[in-house]
Order: sequence, then C-alpha cells, then structure tokens
Amino acid sequence: MADSAAGPVDLVILGGGSGGYAAALRAAELGLSVVLIEKDKLGGTCLHRGCIPTKALLHSAEIVDNINDSETFGIRSTFDGIDMAKVNAYKDSVVAGLFKGLTGLVNSRGIEVVEGTGRLVSPTAVAVGDRVVEGRHVLLATGSYARTLPGLDIDHERVITSDDALVLDRVPASVVVLGAGAIGCEFASVWRSYGAEVTIVEALAHLVPLEDESSSKLLERAFRKRGIAQHLGARFAGVKTTDHGVTVSLESGTTIEAELLLVAVGRGPVSAGLGYEEVGIETDRGYVLVDGDLRTNIPTVSALGDLRPGLQLAHVGFAEGIYVAERLAGLRPAPLDYDNVPRVTYSHPEVASVGLTAAAARERHGEIRTLTYNLAGNGKAQILRTAGAVTLVALPDGPVIGVHMVGDRVGELIAEAQLITNWEALPVDVAQLIHPHPTLSEALGEAHLALAGKPLHIHG
Ligand code: NAI
Repeated sequence: MADSAAGPVDLVILGGGSGGYAAALRAAELGLSVVLIEKDKLGGTCLHRGCIPTKALLHSAEIVDNINDSETFGIRSTFDGIDMAKVNAYKDSVVAGLFKGLTGLVNSRGIEVVEGTGRLVSPTAVAVGDRVVEGRHVLLATGSYARTLPGLDIDHERVITSDDALVLDRVPASVVVLGAGAIGCEFASVWRSYGAEVTIVEALAHLVPLEDESSSKLLERAFRKRGIAQHLGARFAGVKTTDHGVTVSLESGTTIEAELLLVAVGRGPVSAGLGYEEVGIETDRGYVLVDGDLRTNIPTVSALGDLRPGLQLAHVGFAEGIYVAERLAGLRPAPLDYDNVPRVTYSHPEVASVGLTAAAARERHGEIRTLTYNLAGNGKAQILRTAGAVTLVALPDGPVIGVHMVGDRVGELIAEAQLITNWEALPVDVAQLIHPHPTLSEALGEAHLALAGKPLHIHG
C-alpha cells in the first residue's frame, strides 16, 4: 500500500540512530511532518552497541581500579571479583532507561515511527514491507557496522567485534586487540582493569594514531605501566582458532596466544542492499557522498552520520541531524566546523582533543607554537594520582587552534577547550579567566598562562 494518497510527508528518515532521531526531533519541532523508519531500536549504535554501554563498562572498570588502588589512598579493601551478569545488568539498565526516555520523546513530538527495514525506491520514497512512504525529502541515516579485514572471519566466539564484546558473559583471561583507535583502546582499558592479559596490535606507529603524537605517547606510557602489551607499527598477518582460543600472527613473524581476538579496525557504512545505488546515489566504497549541506547528488536526498565519509561520532550525528532539519525547514543554519569537534577516548587515562594536532597545524599554517603543561603541577591531578598533560597548539601571536589532553577525567574538560578553539581565543584571553582551585580545569588555565608568557605552577 502506498501512502501517496495521503500526500507526501515533509521528511522520511531511514535509520533512527543519533543522526536520524536528532533530525526527526528538530524537524518535528520546526513543524515538519516526519516519518522515521527503524528496523531495530531507536537510538542505534550509540545507545545500544556503542557509546553508552561501553561507558558503563568503563565505569565498572574504574571501580575495580579504585578498589585495587585503594591502599594508595589509605583505604583497606579487598577485590572479590567481577560478576559479569551484574555488570551487564547494570549496563543494560542504563541503556533501557535512556531508550525509554528517547521513545517517549520521539512519540511526544508526533513523529511517526515505522518498524521495519526500509529501502530507498525513488528520490522521494522509501519502501518498508509493502508500504511505500513518500516524502518531499529523504534523509539516509543508516549508520555503520564493525568491519573486519579481508580474509579475517568473525566467528563471534573467539574472533569478535565490539558488538560481541559488549555482551560477553565472562572476563576473558587474555585478549588480543587488533586496532588502537577509540574502540580498541577503550576495550583494552576495560579488560585490563578487569584483570585480563591484554595485547594491542596497531598497524600505525602509535596508539590513537589520529590524535596529537604527544597524547599518543602519554597513553602508550600509561598503558605500559598498566601492563598492556603493545605491538605498534605491526601488521596483522592472520589468526587461527585453537582449542583454547586464538593464535594471532603478525607480519614480523611474532605470534600471540590469547582467549579472544577483538577486531577493532574501523566501522564501515551500512548502505549495501538499501537501494541507494539503484536510485542513483553516488557512493565511494559504500559511503554516501554528500556536499557541505549534507545533500547527496540527488537534491531530495540527504545523508549524515557514520554513513558519509568523515568523523564517525554520535555528537557529530546529532549536530548533522539538527543541521539537515533546519535547512529543510528553511532556516539558514551555520555550517558545521568539523575541525573543531571535540573527541574523547574514554580509556584509563582518557584522551581528549579539539582542533588541529601539531602536525596538522604545521602542515596547514607552517609556523606554530606548542606548549605542554604537565599534570604533575596540578593539585587535583595529584589528589587523583593521575598523570598526563595539556598540550596547546597556537598560531604565532594568534589564536589557540588545538587542545590535546591526557589524564583521568580530562574528557570533562574538553567542553571548555572547545569554546577556546571555536571562538578563536588568544592565549591571553584564556589566561585572564580565573579557574576554580583545585580542579583539573586549572591545568587548562595554567597552560594558557604559560603560553601568554606568565607561567605560574610550571618548572623550567
Ligand atoms: P578507528 O578507525 O578509529 O581505528 C582503527 C585502528 O585499526 C586504526 O588505528 C588502524 O590503523 C588500525 N588498523 C587497521 N587495519 C589494521 C591492521 N591490518 N593491523 C593492525 N591495525 C590495523 O576505528 P575504531 O576504533 O574501530 O572505531 C570506529 C569509529 O567509531 C571511529 O570513527 C571512532 O572514532 C568511533 N568511536 C568513537 C568513540 C569515542 O568517541 N569515544 C568510541 C568508539 C568508537
């Protein structure tokens, strides 16, 4: 049955993850009629298989670390073990609560949610089962999946993806983590805290290789201290499953035995078999190509989030969803500034950044200034017993264009750093702001004091 008799709705959205539901909420708020098609659950990867459940695991891991480190703080405690069923119940209850809230929100805005697998059948229509939903505009928001390497088969038992890792019913004795991006480093961190032997294999020269090299090196040092083995600049050659687990071999000839292999080599776009190419949408290796307005080559079809080439982050999906909704409602939203999106890896310690790395800034601007403020000089960092640093990247006599931080809880500081880079603040502008004492945020203030030529708690 076609809906066209009733006339097209303003916006048909395929996929109810961060990008899709944000677009639906904002479009409805602006008075557009919206149909949102979702085959699984509203909330997508972020809520059900990504950001939220992993951060719940990381929080339980932090509790294990606190118990194990408690002597340092004069507290006697004993660690009696991990009840994975309860950890998972806690994690699932967080997800369930947020899912309930999201469902209520979407319903309250008058958005029609259609359950089922949608398929683009024309530049203005999506079919779900035998129903065809016509829209003046279609938004593709089908997200991404955990990809693997050619010839590396995921069996979901010994060779797993992050989807499997999130529902594991036990703490593995040992794990090889392939890929040291955010996913690899976050799971390495969780499992190490839980007591597993963890080995990371990364093809590039550093952990979190997209981050500033100073941050990567600090994370490498911290992970080494935590006993996480690292093979950097190491190419994966193959894996064999054995009676007890896996044998992973590297191109160097090294072999590593472990109970599990986590494949965390990136996420690919969910676009195959959804009618995109048949309708004439331009793609590149499955990613849907878009212009600066998130429009595909077909003017009535937009795409966003993990599906298009670029940053695959939930908060970018939210922003893109709002952007598309506002554009379609006839507003003139400010273009998104992808350079200045904050990024956080929630490992122990955390890595947070916004703006350009020193290397990218040098390439783009030539001469730059950098300054590193070590957390050793920060009172709160000493109280927490966390190590790390804040590194600033600035133009000579110009604004701060990059902030890079490592240390426990620095993820919470990136929002201030984001104001600094997005508002093109000069070091003196920030140096003048009084930061509350004793907080980690003082490290940001002190780094700017130093860059403005008036260092306070800094040696040398
Ligand atoms: P990623 O692309 O960030 O990292 C994958 C890593 O695997 C890269 O460092 C790459 O060099 C390495 N790799 C690829 N092939 C390899 C090989 N043959 N041998 C060894 N290493 C190899 O992807 P990841 O970590 O899977 O995450 C997927 C997406 O999800 C990313 O865009 C990430 O930013 C996002 N994400 C963000 C999180 C956050 O913001 N906290 C958390 C989790 C994921």
